[in-house]
Amino acid sequence: MTTPDEARAELLARIRTSDQPQTVLRSPELRELADNIKDLQPEERSGAGKALNELKQELLRAIDERQAELDEAGTAPIDVTAPWDVNSKRPDLLPTETGTRHPIATELERVVDIFTRMGFDAHESRQLDDDWNMFGALNFPEGHPARDGYDTFRTEEGFIPPAHTSTMQNRVLKAGKAKLEAGGQIASISYGRVFRNEDVDVTHEHTFYQVEGVFVSKDASLAQMLGVLQSLFETYFGQKLKIKTQPAYFPFVEPGLEFLIEKPAQLGGKGGDWLEVLGCGMIHPNVLLAADIDPTEYRGFAWGGMGDRMIMLKYGIEDIRHLESGKLAFLRKFA
Ligand code: DAH
Repeated sequence: MTTPDEARAELLARIRTSDQPQTVLRSPELRELADNIKDLQPEERSGAGKALNELKQELLRAIDERQAELDEAGTAPIDVTAPWDVNSKRPDLLPTETGTRHPIATELERVVDIFTRMGFDAHESRQLDDDWNMFGALNFPEGHPARDGYDTFRTEEGFIPPAHTSTMQNRVLKAGKAKLEAGGQIASISYGRVFRNEDVDVTHEHTFYQVEGVFVSKDASLAQMLGVLQSLFETYFGQKLKIKTQPAYFPFVEPGLEFLIEKPAQLGGKGGDWLEVLGCGMIHPNVLLAADIDPTEYRGFAWGGMGDRMIMLKYGIEDIRHLESGKLAFLRKFA
C-alpha cells in the first residue's frame, strides 16, 4: 500500500518535469490513496483524509509553479543562434553527451575531397527519383531483365528511391553539355544513399552508399579511367595498390568492367586477395544521346560503387547492418 509520503516525492518530481503538470492529479497513485481510505478503520480515516488533502494542496501549488515556468518559457524569445542548451529552462534534463560524426560522413567527405582535388565537382545524389533517370536514360529498355537486378523499391505513385547513384548521370550530363561546347570537359561525382529491396544480412543492407563518377571529353579513354580510379584508392589507403578489371555487364557502359584492388597490406592484405570495389566502363552512346551529347564527337567513362565496403574494410567492420543501426555502442567507437 502506497503511503502519502511515498507518493509525494514521486508526484512532485513528475510535476517538475512535465509539460502538462495538471495531468499528475489524475495519476493512479492518487486514486490508490483515496481508495485506501475506505478500507481503514473509522478512527483512522479522518487523519488519512487530512493527509491526502494536504498532499493535494501541495501538488496544486507545485503545478501552479511549474505552469508559470512553462508559460514563461513559451513566451521568452528564443535565440536560435545560441549554443544548444542556452534556451532550456532545465538544462539538467538535457542529455549531457554531445554526438560524434558518423563514420560514413567522415569517409564520404574524404572521398569527395580526393576527387575535388583532382578537379571533379561533387554533389549529393537524390533520394527520390523517377523511372527515366533510374533506368530509361541509362539504356535499360522497358521490360529488360537487367532492371530486375536492382531490386528497386517504388512508391504507389511510381517514384523510386534510387537503387544506384547512376540515377544522377543524365542530369550531370545535361548540366555539363555547355561546358563541352565551350571546349571543356565534364568531371563530376555524385555521392549518397541508395536503396534496394534486399534480404538483409551481414553483407547486405537495404540502405547503403555509393559514389558515382562521370567524365566526358573529346578523347576520354579507359586508360584515363584506370588512372583516376587507381589514384583514388591509393590516396584513400595511403599506399601503392595493385588493380585489375574483369568484364561485367551494365546497360549504360560498353565495355563494362568490374574494378578490383588488392587488399591493402596495412589492412592485413597478404597479396593476392582481390576486392571488387566498383563497376565502371565507357559510357554507352545511347546514354550520351539521352543527354543530347553527340557520341561521335565526345566520349566518356563512368563508375559507381564502393561506399560502405570501403568503410567496412578500413575499420574492420564485420556487419554492414551496424552502419545504419544507430547503435550507440557502435557509434562511440568513432568518437
Ligand atoms: N550502378 C551500378 C550498380 O550499382 C554500378 C556502375 C557500373 C556504375 C558501371 C557506373 C558504371 O557508373 O559505369 O550496380
